[in-house]
Amino acid sequence: ENKMTEKKYVLSIDQGTTSSRAIVFDHAGKIVSVGQLEHEQIFPKAGWVEHNPVEIWENIREAVGQALSKAEINRHDLAAVGITNQRETTVVWDKNTGEPVYNAIVWQDTRTAEIVRELAGEVGNDKYKEICGLPLATYFSGPKIKWILDNVEGAREKAEAGDLLFGNTDTWTLWNLTGGVNGGVHATDVSNASRTMLMDLKTLQWREDICADMGIPMSMLPQIRSSSEIYGYGRKNGLLIDTPISGILGDQQAATFGQACFEKGMAKNTYGTGCFMLMNTGHEPVQSENGLLTTLCYKIGEAPAVYALEGSIAVTGSLVQWLRDNLKMFTSAPEIEGLARSVEDNGGVYFVPAFSGLFAPYWKDDARGAIVGLTRFNNVGHIARATLEATAFQTREVLDAMNADSGVALTELRVDGGMIANELLMQFQADILGVDVVAPQVAETTALGAAYAAGIAVGFWEGEQDVIDNWAEGKRWSPSMDAAERDRTYRLWKKAVTRTFDWVD
Ligand code: G3P
Repeated sequence: ENKMTEKKYVLSIDQGTTSSRAIVFDHAGKIVSVGQLEHEQIFPKAGWVEHNPVEIWENIREAVGQALSKAEINRHDLAAVGITNQRETTVVWDKNTGEPVYNAIVWQDTRTAEIVRELAGEVGNDKYKEICGLPLATYFSGPKIKWILDNVEGAREKAEAGDLLFGNTDTWTLWNLTGGVNGGVHATDVSNASRTMLMDLKTLQWREDICADMGIPMSMLPQIRSSSEIYGYGRKNGLLIDTPISGILGDQQAATFGQACFEKGMAKNTYGTGCFMLMNTGHEPVQSENGLLTTLCYKIGEAPAVYALEGSIAVTGSLVQWLRDNLKMFTSAPEIEGLARSVEDNGGVYFVPAFSGLFAPYWKDDARGAIVGLTRFNNVGHIARATLEATAFQTREVLDAMNADSGVALTELRVDGGMIANELLMQFQADILGVDVVAPQVAETTALGAAYAAGIAVGFWEGEQDVIDNWAEGKRWSPSMDAAERDRTYRLWKKAVTRTFDWVD
C-alpha cells in the first residue's frame, strides 16, 4: 500500500508523568511538530499519586492528531511509530472490556511501603537485587500490582481467571493503538520490564518465583520484546492505521539512546519531574554497591542487551511545581529563576524534597521533606534558590555513586529535559559537580530516542551511527566555583539530608 509515497518521518509518542506528547521527527532527527496534553494528577491522600488511564489514552490520540495536523502530514508519511513512557506507573485492566479496574498507580506513589516491608521480611530490601537489579522499594511496579489485586474488589478473582492485564503506560498505549479488545498486542520492551522487579536481568524473562511471592498471576504480564522491532500495526486509532509500531523504551532509557550514550561509561541526566542519571555499562549488568539501580538500557532487535546503572531522584522539577501550585509563590515555573537571582546565594537554606521518601542513593521510604537552616534573614528568594540547588545537589550525590561504582570519574555530563532551560541551575550544576555539563541541540532526547528505536527497526535509520552523526552539542557550562566553597556547601547539603530520615511513625 502506498509504495509510491516516500515516508519521510517518524512519530514518537511520549507518555510522561505530567503530559502526553506526540512529536514528529525528520531523518536528521530534527523536530517537525509537537502535540501535547497534560493530564490530571490525582492525590487521594498523603503519599498517593494516581492518573486516569482513560484520560491518558484520549490525550495520546488527541496529541497525535495535533502533531500530524501541525506538520500537515498523515500516516502515509510515517515510516514508524515509537513509544516512550513514564516507567513503573501501573495500569491493570480488563481484557474483555478494555476498562481499567483502578486508576494508574504512579511511580511516585508510596502506598506500597507496608507491602514492601512484608516482602523484605527477614532477608531485607536487597532480597531480589541479584536477580532484578533493584532494591525493594515503593517505586517499582510489582508491589503496585499486588496492591491493586489485594484492594480492588473482585480483582484477584478476575486476575486468576485470566481476565486482567497489567502494563506500564507503554503497554497500555500499545494495546490500545493496536486494537484494544479487538486483538490489541499485549507486550512491553526489556527496558520497561526491568522496572517491575519481576524480570530476570540476565534471561530477560519474567521470574515465576518473584511473581508467586507477590501473588501476581503470570497471565497478567505482557510479552517481553526487544526495544526495536515491529510489535504490531495501528488499528483502532484511525490516524495511525496500518502504521508499524516498532520502538518502545522507558523514557530515561530513551533519553540515553537519544543522547547517543552507546559506549560503556557514557552517561546522561534528564531534568524532568524527577532526575534520572543513566550510565551505559555495556553487555553485562553491574551490581551497584552505592545505592544505584541496575537496569536494562536497551536491546535493538536481535543484538545483545545493553545495561545501565541508574540514579533515580524522585523530586526535582516537581518541587518547582509544588512551589507554584501549593505555595503559590509564582504563577509559571520559569519565574523561579528570577526569584533565585534576586539573592546572592542560598542564605544558608537547604531544601530536601523527600516527598516520596528518598530514592537514590538512600532508598528510604520513611524520609519526608524538610527545609533547614532558616533564620529571620531569609526570604522567598532563598527558598527559590534552595529549590533549584536541591536538584543539583541530588544529582551530585548520584554522580558520586556512579563514580564509586564504575571506578572511573565521569569527565562531563550530557543533560536534557525541561529544567535545562534554567541557566542558574545549569551553572550551579557544573559548579557542584566540578565537571562540564553539556546539552545537545535537540533537547527532546526522550522522544527522539524512541523515534530512533522505531526507525531503526524499519530501516528508516541504519543504526546507532546515524544517532551519533545526528547528535550535536548545543550548549556547555563549565565549573567556576572554587573547590573550598563547593565542598562547604555540599557538606551542608549532606547534613540537611540526614534531617529527613526516619520521619514516618
Ligand atoms: O521512573 C520514572 C520516570 O520514568 C519518570 O519520568 O520524565 O515522566 O518524570 P518523567
